[in-house]
Amino acid sequence: MFAAAILIVSVLATISFYPSVAHSQKTAKSLTTSIPENVKTVLKNSCAACHGDNGSGMAMGIWNLNQWDTYTPAKQAKKANAICKSVTNGTMPPKSFAGAKPTATQVTEICTWASSIQINN
Ligand code: HEC
Repeated sequence: MFAAAILIVSVLATISFYPSVAHSQKTAKSLTTSIPENVKTVLKNSCAACHGDNGSGMAMGIWNLNQWDTYTPAKQAKKANAICKSVTNGTMPPKSFAGAKPTATQVTEICTWASSIQINN
């Protein structure tokens, strides 16, 4: 009798907790497009002075590292592609930028990440 009561309580607990468990899994999944650490470090050092909070107004309007996680997956894919192109052809960071420029290895890392998040639309 006691065991049956425990069983009923645990079944009820499982049912009432299930929706919140399902919801948190869904949220975690939608964050998988976030920038991996190795790429984020390069973007922080070579781009965020302009493309980050307190950067240049024009650059932040194009993409802002601090706002990245608020972009839709489609926007992230489009911006990542433009970022890969700009570091590959050397237009970014601008010649006048005194900070670190991405090395050839870092350019490869950026473009590997960019191609991994491209989505068909
Ligand atoms: C010194 C400031 C500065 C830095 C540093 C900088 N940018 Fe920019 N970026 C700008 C400005 C200003 C614009 C908008 C005007 C333009 O297109 O030149 C821009 C535009 C862009 C664009 C859109 C135009 C294009 O060329 O496709 C991309 C993509 C971009 N930047 C990527 C980057 C990346 C990636 C880095 C770091 C590796 C970086 N930028 C570093 C100032 C900067």
